[in-house]
Amino acid sequence: MKKALYLIAGLLAMACARSPYTDQPIRSGEIWPDDRGEHINAHGGGILCYDNTFYWFGEHKGERSSSAFVGVTCYSSKDLVNWKYEGVALSVEDDPESEITRGCVLERPKVIYNKKTGKFVMWFHLELKGRGYSAARAAVAVSDNVTGPYKYLGSGRVNPGILAQNVSEEDLASLEGLPELESWTPEWLDAVKKGLYYKRDFEGGQMSRDMTLYVDDDGKAYHIYASEENLTLNIAELSDDYLSHSGKYVRVAPTGHNEAPSIFKRNGTYWMITSGCTGWAPNAARMFSASDIMGPWTQYPNPCRGEKSEITYGGQSTYILPVPGKKDLYIFMADIWRPAHPIDARYIWLPIQFGEDGVPFLEWMDEWNIEAYK
Ligand code: DGJ
Repeated sequence: MKKALYLIAGLLAMACARSPYTDQPIRSGEIWPDDRGEHINAHGGGILCYDNTFYWFGEHKGERSSSAFVGVTCYSSKDLVNWKYEGVALSVEDDPESEITRGCVLERPKVIYNKKTGKFVMWFHLELKGRGYSAARAAVAVSDNVTGPYKYLGSGRVNPGILAQNVSEEDLASLEGLPELESWTPEWLDAVKKGLYYKRDFEGGQMSRDMTLYVDDDGKAYHIYASEENLTLNIAELSDDYLSHSGKYVRVAPTGHNEAPSIFKRNGTYWMITSGCTGWAPNAARMFSASDIMGPWTQYPNPCRGEKSEITYGGQSTYILPVPGKKDLYIFMADIWRPAHPIDARYIWLPIQFGEDGVPFLEWMDEWNIEAYK
């Protein structure tokens, strides 16, 4: 009985059936001041709804460098428009031996809540200080409180020595003894599809760069990340406590060169919006759908329409938020990077629209408001 009461109390605390919101406009690309009047500094981020409050976690960016000198910031809001600065949720460390020492690269943090353990779990892309983008690690931190402080647990490549569900031993064997291949030739593309880089990294674990997290209706969580030198996406199930990988994973769109994965589910179909790989410069978005998160995934044309659709209106996807209490409102969130002045990077938030066939698309809107949606 006591257990049941705790469970109900826990579920109520997590409830996110929010309404009303606000008719204040969302204006993509502009300065978004927080409660202190400072432009929100939470890039490559994602949003968690917990206890009727939204929490936005993202990368703190400095004036001149895109590296991490502060850590992961957190903001809270009741209406997704007015944001309160909650401080640094995960701080970089002063110890030069620490994997998250000041000056490392810490990107695309996402936080999810584990109902079973009552813990908040943060995953992010980590590059070790001074080593460019070669480490390609997934890192994890945990907290009892949503706003932190998060305790850094560690980092690594993903699923070392474990075969992906859609990789055949036969394909890997066919790569034995291949001569050095020139990139982007048909022979090289064929070898990458079969697992050229996958095989290279098999024992040590798969590379993990741009990433997002997704918690499905059954409570299972997934880590979606750019792997194999950014040539292939991986979708990997997390363990029940969300602190490690379960070993169940798939490769998606090998040779597709996808970054910046973002995902949502509508009417039983999973939709994933990604970008191409052009550094900090914007490029055309890509879109995929699947009826099972582990695939197979089908690619669609660029979901963006209208002017600047070929560069995602200047942005790069980071997260898609289904808005609680608003049927069919899914907010596509993207970053407009400013590599020469990273702190001035801006945000694009647009409502995803759906064609009669149910296929999502995006159009630029100078401004729109959440309360206008049913
Ligand atoms: C594009 C990625 O999406 C960003 O997160 C960042 O890693 C930049 N590349 C670095 O060039």
